[in-house]
Amino acid sequence: MAKEQATSITHIEDDRFKVTEWRFAAGAETGWHVHGHDYVIVPLTDGTLGLDVPDGAPFTAALTQGVPYSRREGVHHNVTNAGTQPLAFLEIETVADAVTHRRRDTLVRFMAAWNARDVDALMACMAADCVFHASAGPEAEGRRFIGRDAVRASYSAMFDSFPQAAWTADSHTVAGDTGLSEWRFVGTDKSGKTVDVQGCDIFRFDVDLIALKDSYRKNRS
Ligand code: NI
Repeated sequence: MAKEQATSITHIEDDRFKVTEWRFAAGAETGWHVHGHDYVIVPLTDGTLGLDVPDGAPFTAALTQGVPYSRREGVHHNVTNAGTQPLAFLEIETVADAVTHRRRDTLVRFMAAWNARDVDALMACMAADCVFHASAGPEAEGRRFIGRDAVRASYSAMFDSFPQAAWTADSHTVAGDTGLSEWRFVGTDKSGKTVDVQGCDIFRFDVDLIALKDSYRKNRS
């Protein structure tokens, strides 16, 4: 006979946390699942969990009301109420890592668009209100291009200036609202001069898209 399913209520779901209340009648189960995020369990009742795991014998774990525990992303199990009374807990998942993964994907797509010389694909990575600070220029920020039209024109001008260009050895990191792409630029300009320098971009995000690209590169001498 199929076991009764545990029931869930989502209390919070935003860009940082998902908080779910789980309630189990005696013998009810969640079904098999894999946790996609790090999480904390806060028992709302005392109880006994029965845990089925893919590689190992089933086991039980005591829940104590108000005593939390934490687990890492990737846990794979089926959870059953192994006691005789109803039990409940809050599950608090840290979903901010999902935002970080999406932002990093944007940086990888952005770099691919540079190498594909695809201005539409570049602009698809930029937020509605976007700004580009070029590495060279008269201002403390370099040269500022403000708004989609100005940013697009500056990216097109870059491709015009360098008929051949490649961004290689790239790596991408996201921490909070800040992104970092490191790269080595090797290009040949219209006069036939080769430029080969390392540099980086510091990014600010608007949700998953780039609100600011702030460029820096080595000045070979
Ligand atoms: Ni679970």
